Order: sequence, then C-alpha cells, then structure tokens
Amino acid sequence: MKIEGKEYRTIWFENNIVKIIDQTKLPHQFVIKDLKRVKDAINAIKVMEVRGAPLIGATAAYGLVLAIIENNDQSFLKKTSEELINSRPTAINLKWAVDRMMKKLSGVNSNEILKIALNEAKEICEEDVKFCENIGISGVKIIEEIYNKKKSTVNILTHCNAGWLATINWGTATSPIYHAHKKGIPVHVWVDETRPRNQGANLTSYELNEEEVPNTIIADNTGGILMQRGEVDMCIVGTDRTLSTGDVANKIGTYLKALAAYDNNVPFYVALPSSTIDWDIKDFKDIPIEERNSEELSYVEGLDENNNIKKILIYPKKSKAMNLAFDITPAKYITGLITEKGLCDASKEGLGKLFK
Ligand code: MRU
Repeated sequence: MKIEGKEYRTIWFENNIVKIIDQTKLPHQFVIKDLKRVKDAINAIKVMEVRGAPLIGATAAYGLVLAIIENNDQSFLKKTSEELINSRPTAINLKWAVDRMMKKLSGVNSNEILKIALNEAKEICEEDVKFCENIGISGVKIIEEIYNKKKSTVNILTHCNAGWLATINWGTATSPIYHAHKKGIPVHVWVDETRPRNQGANLTSYELNEEEVPNTIIADNTGGILMQRGEVDMCIVGTDRTLSTGDVANKIGTYLKALAAYDNNVPFYVALPSSTIDWDIKDFKDIPIEERNSEELSYVEGLDENNNIKKILIYPKKSKAMNLAFDITPAKYITGLITEKGLCDASKEGLGKLFK
C-alpha cells in the first residue's frame, strides 16, 4: 500500500539486511530501519518496531535468515528460534512462522541452508499478501450488501491496527475496506484510538489517510454511543490468536466493542489469515495474555510545539498502573470470521468446514 504515493511493504530483504518500517516512529517520522542480526529482529518484535500478528511472524522468519548469516550452526538456530517464539506471547503467528521455518532448516548442514531459509521467509510473506488480498475479496461483499440496502456511506468501526502495517500488505480488517474504497463504495471508518499505544490513531488512521479512505479517530469509549445512535453499520477487527472454537484474542478493548455491537445488533466481524489459528488450545483461559510495561500507560509521546517528539508523564507519580495488552472475545459475540478461504461462522463447525 502507499505512503506519500509510493508503494511499500512492511518488511523486505536487501543485501543480507532485513528492512522494516519502524512503527514506533509513526505517524510523525517515516524511518526505514535495518535489522542486521537476529537480536535486532528479536528486539524489533519486543519493542514493537514491528507489530501485528502476521508481521511479527514474518519478522521472526527473517530473523532466522539473519541467524544463519551470523552463525550457521544448528544449536544457535535452535536457541534463537526459541528466543523468537518467546519475544511476544499472545500472537500465535510467531510460533507458527518459526515452526514452519525450522521444519525446513532442522538438520540441514549444507551451504544450501541460507537459500532454503530465504525462500521460506519470502514465501511466508507472499502467502500473507495473497491471504490478506483474499480476505478483502471476501469481506468486500459484506460491505457491498450493506451499501446496497443503505445507499449511503457505510460506517465501519475498527480497533487497534489490523491494517497493512500489521501484515505485509493490505491488512486483515482493513483489506475489505480498501477493496470497497477501490470499488467506489463510499466507506467511512471509525478508528478507535486504542490506548495505551494508540495503534488506531498512530497507525490505522495514518495508513487510511495515505490511501485517502475517510476516517475519524474516536476515544476508545466512544464506540458504544455511536452504535446506539445507529452510526456504526459494522465492526471489523483483527486477531492475534483464533481458537478452533471461534473465540479470538485481540487488542485490549476488542471484547467491550463486541459486547456493545451485540447489544445494538451491529454485525461484528473478525478478519484473519489461517496463520492466526491455534488448533491446540481449547479453552480461551489458556491463551497467554501479554502484560506490558505500565509506562506505556503513564507516559504519552507526541509532537511538541517545535515539532520535536517528546515523551511526557500524564499520571500521578505515585500511582500504580496495569497494562494488559489483549483480551478475549468469545465466539458468541462474533457475527462471522473473514478468512482467506471465505466467510465462516466463529465456531468449530465453521472453521472446520473451511480448514479441514
Ligand atoms: O500489540 P499489537 O499492536 O501487535 O496488536 C495488534 C493487534 O491486536 C491486531 O489487531 C492483530 O495483531 C491482528 S493484525 C492483522
């Protein structure tokens, strides 16, 4: 997708270096960062220079490529693969991508290993682009149906950033929106700010602006009254881990939006590539929920009057704060899942029909 009119992907490989768009600097600065060693990839995931379930999976895959360039040794590869999996706990894509890479790389001692690793990392990215495009092709039909009934702008609420910046291209939740916009269907997006890291305001609104999709940032607690007023036609969010039961873990606050949508008969969709499905965990209480540093809550960062990025404390110095990064939306509140293979119910039967 475009930034200042130029097509980008979120991650690519050039001259033995992994290139990323540093998302901690957006929206105020556009910085392309070099990851040269596997520890740079691990750090980029931890500090969220890259974030979003599919993109952290792809970064972990390229991290293993960097590990091989650094030290082509099976025990080093094994150790770093574990560190990559543990760099963030909730999104299953990290484990999915690392397991997929290690299946190809374990026990390979020939000089071919780098080529094999690079091909697989590239394949993970290409596949994600295709899957996200397919999510858009399936999801746009829902938007079109609403438009055909309403004959005026379709208002869509989204939470966090499940946009192209969270994937390689297109995004998951945003892909149907971009497809609708390209088809000329009038859409407007309510963008939840998404405290504490403001991925909605800093990333979703930014990327929608760059693609000229009309959008309005709202405080996280605004969605409920907008739904009561009939100003939200549908919600689309992403997911970090989707259970075979249809329950999903996504950015903190998703659950409350789903409850409000349920109470107001607003359709609530979750868009996902199959790389976020966890077929093993059966009970959502077993999903590891990331707890991040409370400073992400007590400090905010922004531009000062001289256009310099500044970090300021907004809480009382003595106050304690707690920063859970994800919550769970039970399947009963989800109208449907939008996947690369089409739409399905958020249930074992629904997912089972598409992914045997
Ligand atoms: O903490 P983040 O910014 O990595 O959280 C991202 C989300 O919650 C997204 O909604 C999710 O990863 C789906 S991305 C297509």
